[in-house]
Parts: sequence; structure tokens; C-alpha cells
Amino acid sequence: MTSTVPTDSVNTQLHEERTFAPSAEFAAQANGTQELYDAAAADRLGFWAEQARRYVSWSTDFTQTLDWSEAPFARWFVGGELNACVNAVDRHVEAGLGSRVALHFVGEPGDTRDITYAALHEEVQRAANVLTELGVGAGDTVAIYLPMIPEAVVAMLACARIGAPHSVVFGGFSAEALHSRIADARAKVVVTADGGYRRGRPSALKPAVDAALDHGESSVTSVLVVRRTGQETPWHERDLWWHEALEAADATHEAQRFDAEHPLFILYTSGTTGKPKGILHTTGGYLTQAAYTNHVVHDVHPDTDVYWCTADVGWVTGHSYIVYGPLTNGATQVMYEGTPDSPHQGRWWEIVQDYGVTILYTAPTAIRTFMKWGRQIPDGFDLSSLRLLGSVGEPINPEAWMWYREVIGGERCPIVDTWWQTETGAIMISPLPGVTPTRPGSAQVAVPGICVEVVDDVGAPVERGVAGYMVLTEPWPAMLRGIWGDPQRYRDTYWSRFYGLYFAGDGAKRDEDGNIWFLGRVDDVMNVSGHRLSTAEIESALVSHPKVAEAAVVGAADDTTGQAICAFVILRSEAVEEADEPGEGGDLVQELRAHVGREIGPIAKPRQIMVVAELPKTRSGKIMRRLLKDVAEHREVGDVTTLADSSVMTMISEGLRSD
Ligand code: WTA
Repeated sequence: MTSTVPTDSVNTQLHEERTFAPSAEFAAQANGTQELYDAAAADRLGFWAEQARRYVSWSTDFTQTLDWSEAPFARWFVGGELNACVNAVDRHVEAGLGSRVALHFVGEPGDTRDITYAALHEEVQRAANVLTELGVGAGDTVAIYLPMIPEAVVAMLACARIGAPHSVVFGGFSAEALHSRIADARAKVVVTADGGYRRGRPSALKPAVDAALDHGESSVTSVLVVRRTGQETPWHERDLWWHEALEAADATHEAQRFDAEHPLFILYTSGTTGKPKGILHTTGGYLTQAAYTNHVVHDVHPDTDVYWCTADVGWVTGHSYIVYGPLTNGATQVMYEGTPDSPHQGRWWEIVQDYGVTILYTAPTAIRTFMKWGRQIPDGFDLSSLRLLGSVGEPINPEAWMWYREVIGGERCPIVDTWWQTETGAIMISPLPGVTPTRPGSAQVAVPGICVEVVDDVGAPVERGVAGYMVLTEPWPAMLRGIWGDPQRYRDTYWSRFYGLYFAGDGAKRDEDGNIWFLGRVDDVMNVSGHRLSTAEIESALVSHPKVAEAAVVGAADDTTGQAICAFVILRSEAVEEADEPGEGGDLVQELRAHVGREIGPIAKPRQIMVVAELPKTRSGKIMRRLLKDVAEHREVGDVTTLADSSVMTMISEGLRSD
């Protein structure tokens, strides 16, 4: 694993030294309390056992809170049995809350559906019966490739209900990316849709599934297709319409209990190599921490709040904070299908106004986009229902934080900047609203029950003010249980950098008050608009193009998206000759961008591709991305003395200047 010593290069634009104490009014009703910190500090495992019994209904109580004897493979709530879907749906109906709205769905074209817990209950039972009839049993995996529509939630919960781990693949990933995820998880069924709406137009989804399954032998026996757009869809023998299958299925389904450690889902995420990792989460610990953090960090009061997490269910934020956390808590939420600027740039604020949204959880990249569009847009709507704002996905710069506070939050809403990862499963570092005075730009402190540290190269805690590596020093309930099918990679990636510590891959420092400031990734993972992408994955997509001999990708700082993808490619000699012909260079760049879009998905298309004659390499042949980053960020190129050929950087810089 490569990692570079983190530098303190972000969060430097605005010096905002103020902290914002919670209002007495907010504090008086907050779910989070100082006592939670005290209880967790006094008896951490006892604290988690209490949260597990508080937030989750167990069919069989657990007998041991944590078994860490086979570290780093953890077992939480040993001996406990439960059903995640029953926790998220059935028990609310049983408690008489069936008529409460679970999801206010807003489709991009303007169609809306309010789905109550009772309606959700019926749908998940029917879907569970359909999956069972299709031969899906406990332990079989199901791939879900859907737009942001309620059926995505139903499909996930139906899988959970029958103990079939789901693997949700973000709808923006390509057929190729979908294929490799289906193959790795050996999915038996794929749930997809004819299409979804994006920027006012229907965009097809099903053809990507067909292409993904068109690779010869496949584990997939059936494809369930939700009708969303009504567009023409090629049909195969293995395909079934979701609505027809659900209608024909029995509306009742008896849920079974599963072991606390039964796999709940796999979610692929980018690591430092070209191959995405299937992050495995199990049931009891994950559900406990997702529900607990949603309650104390988002401060959800299920009987009065309207909560809106703007993430896509294809990412972990959607898993934990649209599906499992809020539904386990019985919350009412908004689910929006489309983009923030369709049909107009005030769409989100219109939704907040129309539904009286009280809690909004989104990403810094969205906030920066809204800043660019101007405050007159949100100012045109009534946002007075909002009472709490959250941020996730990347460090939030103090300017964006202050804008969020003033323009969206009307200076009255606490902001929670929440740090966590696909691997951590749930929020790990965040202020507790109503307790922690907030500090613009800092994710601040570990939530009660979580233990973190910032360490140096040898794993020793660093002094305050000094940049180091973020590590987690104790296992936590929602932690990943491994990488699907690759236990060694799990040890290597997370547990071998520092003995006994979980290596998060982020740089961080603590300030004088103990607040944690994140400094970006220290490995070859990029964060583009809050999406995690690996440089190696995009490099291997580029070199799979017949005209590319070698490629190096770096993330360059970008004002809106956090980082932007910049690629440097060396062409094969045949292609160089072609590119020399007038006009060919530009076409080739377009061709390569499209190729990356096909291999991974549109989100991975490089912003910039530079054709170069050489790449900077050390004597041992390692590409020095640090130097390429200097070029991409228009900085003076740093120390080149370790390069095998120090003239390479001059060639690259001069080549670019002459373009
Ligand atoms: C980054 C998303 C700073 C970080 C939930 C982490 C953050 C990676 C924050 C995980 C934050 C996420 N402040 N950085 N509040 N939240 N990150 O797996 O680099 O998609 O390691 O999970 O996003 O991304 P992932």
C-alpha cells in the first residue's frame, strides 16, 4: 500500500475561529446528551449493549457484546437473532404506526407518492415472496441496479427479510462495472428498471443489465424489471416485470430470524488497486449503529420530523441513512429521484418548503454548487421548517459551512459534519447537536462509543496541531466484517499498516481543543463530488483502450467537486502517428473519456486528459503522482531528484504550456 504523509493543504482559505454553541431551545429537545459520552467512557461495551437493545428488536437476545478473539474479524452481539426488515418495517406497523408516511417520494418529472409504513410492509412482503419464488434463499446474493425510486428501498428490505445479502450498484455505473460486481458477488437475481429520469429526460437502465449479462456464463437466473419510464425495453427469457410479479405474489410473508452476524449486504467501493472491494456488512451491529447515530447525530424525532438525506441508495450513505437507520427509527423521509437543477435550480428548496423538511443531510459538493448558483435561489423559498443540517462525504470548507449555516439554516440550525466510510458502516466522528459547540470545517469528535486517534508513521499518537493518519483504535458495531471473498485483502488493507489499529486512509490533525480536522486521503483514492474513485481503477480503464500504452491518474483540487480527475497518458506508437494528424488529438481525448465512461461510469470520466511522451518514474519504476499533481494543480513542480530521468517533468510541463 502506498501512502504519503498527509499535508495540511485543505481548509485554509477562510479562517473562521468562531464556534457556535447550541441554542438552549435545541439542546432542550436534543436526543444526544453529555450522559452518552460519560456512559460510553465508563463502560464502552456495556454502552453498546444498551444501544443494541434500545434501537433494535431482537428475536433472541445476545449473550456476548463483542467477540474480538479472532481479530480483525469481529463478532458483535453474539448469539442474538433478528430480522433487519422486521426492525425497519413490521414492528412500526405492529406498534400502530402503519399510517405514518415512511417515504414521501418525489420523482424528477414531478410525480409524487406517499408510502406509509403499512404500504411498505405489504410491498416488502410481496417482494420477499417473489424473490423466494425465484429461488433466492438465505445467503444468496441479489444485485440491485435502480434509480432513486421507492422500489430500491423495497428491494433492499425484501432481501434483508429473506437473509439474501444485497449488492446495490449505483445506477451511474456502466455495464462493465455492473458485470464485474455481479460476477464477484455471484448474484442470482438482478433487480433493475427500464430507466429513470435524469435532467428532464428518461434515461435507460435495463440495456446495461443486458450488456452486463452478455458475457457468457452468468450466475444470474432472473432479472426483475421495475417499470419507471415506460420506454421500450429489450426483453429476454430471464426477465420479469416487477409490478406483475409483485401483484401475483402473496401479500403476506413470515420473516425468519437471522444470526446477528448474518451478512446483510455487500457494497463495492474503490480501494488503492484497480479492483473494487466488496465491503461486507452484517446485521445486528450495523443496524444498531446506523439507528443510534441517526437518532443522536441527525437528532431524528420520528413522530415530528421530516428527514431528507439527498444521497443515492447506491452509496453507503443511502444504505445507512435512507434505508436502515431512519426506517429502523420509524422516521418519515423525503426521497428525491433527480438532480438539484431539474427543472430549475431551486428544486431542492421547493421540496424542503413543500414537505416541511426539518433535517437535511447532504454533501459539501452540493453546497458549493448552490453557493455558485447564488443565494437568491434558496432565498426565494420558505426554509423555516429546517432545524438541523448535516454534511458528509468529504471535508467541508469553512466558507461552505458558513454559507450553509446562514443561507440554508437561517443561522438557527446546528450543522453536523459527519465523518465515516463505506467500511465503517455508520457515522464515527461528528458533533452531537445540542451538546457539542460546532466549529466550521471540523468534523470534531468521535461519537460516544467510538475510539479514534491521529498517529504518525509508526502508529504513535501525534501532538495537537500536527498532521497524521486517522486510525480507529477499538472495534465498533457497524464495522465491515471483511472484503467479500478476500479475507487477506481485508487484513492487508486495513489492519497491517499499524499493528492492532484500523487504518482509515485519511489524513487528519487535532486542534488545541481536540477537534479533528480531516486533510483528505493519504492513499491513491480520490474524492470527486463525494464519490470515491481510485486512481488505479481509472488507470486500468485507460490502458484497456487499444491506443493507450500507459496512464497515470491524479486527483487535482477543484473548487466545486473537491477533487477532479486528471489523467496523463502515453500513447502506443501507432496511435501517436494518428494523433499527430491535425485535429486527431482532441478526438482521441474524447474517445478516451467515453471509454472510461463505458468501463466504469460517467462519474469516472477524467476532467482532463493530457497526452504526454513520458511519465515521471522513480528508479524502481513507481510513478510519482505527487509531481503530476503539481502539474495538474498548476503549481511549481516539487522535488524531482528521485526521478530516474529528471528531464521528464520539464518535458511534461513544456508540452502542456505549448498546447
Ligand atoms: C471522505 C462516505 C472529511 C474520507 C460516507 C473517507 C470525509 C471517505 C467526510 C469515505 C467528512 C467522508 N470529512 N472527509 N465529513 N466524510 N469523507 O466510503 O476521505 O464513500 O475516507 O463513505 O470520504 O468515502 P465513502
